[in-house]
Amino acid sequence: MEDVCHYFVRRHGEPLLVADHVSFDVPRGQFVSLVGPSGCGKTTVLNMIAGLVAPTLGRVVRDGSTVTRPRRDVGYMFARDGLLPWRSAHANVELGLELRGIPARERRSRADELLDVVGLTGFGSSYPGQLSQGMRQRVALARTLSLRPDLLLMDEPFAALDAQTKLIVQEEFIKVWEGSGMTVIWVTHDLEEAVALSDRVIVFSARPGRIKSDSWVDLERPRNIEEVRFLPEFQEVHSRIWSDLRDEVKRAQL
Ligand SMILES: Nc1ncnc2c1ncn2[C@@H]1O[C@H](COP(=O)(O)OP(=O)(O)OP(=O)(O)O)[C@@H](O)[C@H]1O
Ligand SMILES: [Mg+2]
Repeated sequence: MEDVCHYFVRRHGEPLLVADHVSFDVPRGQFVSLVGPSGCGKTTVLNMIAGLVAPTLGRVVRDGSTVTRPRRDVGYMFARDGLLPWRSAHANVELGLELRGIPARERRSRADELLDVVGLTGFGSSYPGQLSQGMRQRVALARTLSLRPDLLLMDEPFAALDAQTKLIVQEEFIKVWEGSGMTVIWVTHDLEEAVALSDRVIVFSARPGRIKSDSWVDLERPRNIEEVRFLPEFQEVHSRIWSDLRDEVKRAQL
């Protein structure tokens, strides 16, 4: 993002600045998390990277060209699973492939493989209403991965999960990601999650979102997501980033 600002126009015509001179670079294959108080502009930043919202000023550049519309090699996942209730888990995973005209046999085998990857072997014929929230998010993850994106935009993908399920799904996700070469931009309110998963954590200020800090998480990979939290290096990075974030969260509530 090169010096990006974004204004929304409110009902009475006043502008609302949500991104204020935001610049950052994400090298291919990096896992970066964006954290910041509610309403600071994180989702808007993801939407601009996805080509769904145009910056008011500045530009978003990917592989050397300005992003002006959504690209096929981008996967986007949200806290809401967005599954179609009338399609089985398997048919939900196949949806994107169907829309791209991938032949039935290949669709089936890719969906089978991904359901295995996300730990849902044997649940392909279940409908979303017959699955737990954790299982539904796994289906949504399999659907996002089915299109083999180079860039994954994740907007609080596990926010709807209970703490224990979240740990398990994070562990599964990091196994899928490690060695995949995918670039990940991950938005979360859970700083432990951000530190445990990422190579780097960017803290946004209260609205208008500015970059407040940009920190490396220098923990070894492959990481054991459940155990990494107990390392002194983890605690050190976490408390440093938390002190930046805490101030902004407080400011946002004033
Ligand atoms: N389409 C829109 N029109 C007008 N204002 C909008 C629009 N979308 C978002 N906003 C406003 O922009 C600000 C930033 O929204 P955004 O969704 O990017 O925040 P966020 O950091 O993702 O927040 P959260 O952590 O709660 O998801 C908010 O104040 C919101 O009300
Ligand atoms: Mg948001």
